[in-house]
Amino acid sequence: MAIRTILRDSDPSLRKKSRIVSDFNPRMHKLLDDMRETLLEANGLGLAAPQVGVLRRAVLVVDTSREEGDEDAVIELINPEIIAREGEQEGNEGCLSVPGVYGIVKRPETVTVRAFDRFGNEFEVSGEGLTARAFCHEIDHLDGILFSDLASRFLTKEELDEIARGDAEEDADAEEDGGE
Ligand code: NI
Repeated sequence: MAIRTILRDSDPSLRKKSRIVSDFNPRMHKLLDDMRETLLEANGLGLAAPQVGVLRRAVLVVDTSREEGDEDAVIELINPEIIAREGEQEGNEGCLSVPGVYGIVKRPETVTVRAFDRFGNEFEVSGEGLTARAFCHEIDHLDGILFSDLASRFLTKEELDEIARGDAEEDADAEEDGGE
């Protein structure tokens, strides 16, 4: 496996429509393995192939309802399509390709996605909350859409500082509890 470079928002590849995957071959498996390593290293919740410069319809999404370190927590979705949406949530979103920027984006509360695994087997998966948000965000990447296109507003520096402080406190709490 190898870590690939994550493209930044000014890169034209992020604005293109990705192509359907028709060969579930070793080259595709290598791409997915590299994307997984790149995602874990970047500590993100999802990654789409165009973010590493490959214009193919493949994304990874971290299922946040699973334990940290669970191998199955990273879901591989090839040629994904959202087939059902329910409810609504409004919340904070960011992107590995748009570092340091966060915005408020409206998304469905629950989504069901139909996709193929790396061997070409079709499956369906549902996610709610943060996982639903990640499905939508990553699938948007395949059509050249960034969260910043959809944000109703962007967080201010003060709000970002507040979140950073909150995270730091959480980390400190976690250490007291034994680092869980
Ligand atoms: Ni993104």
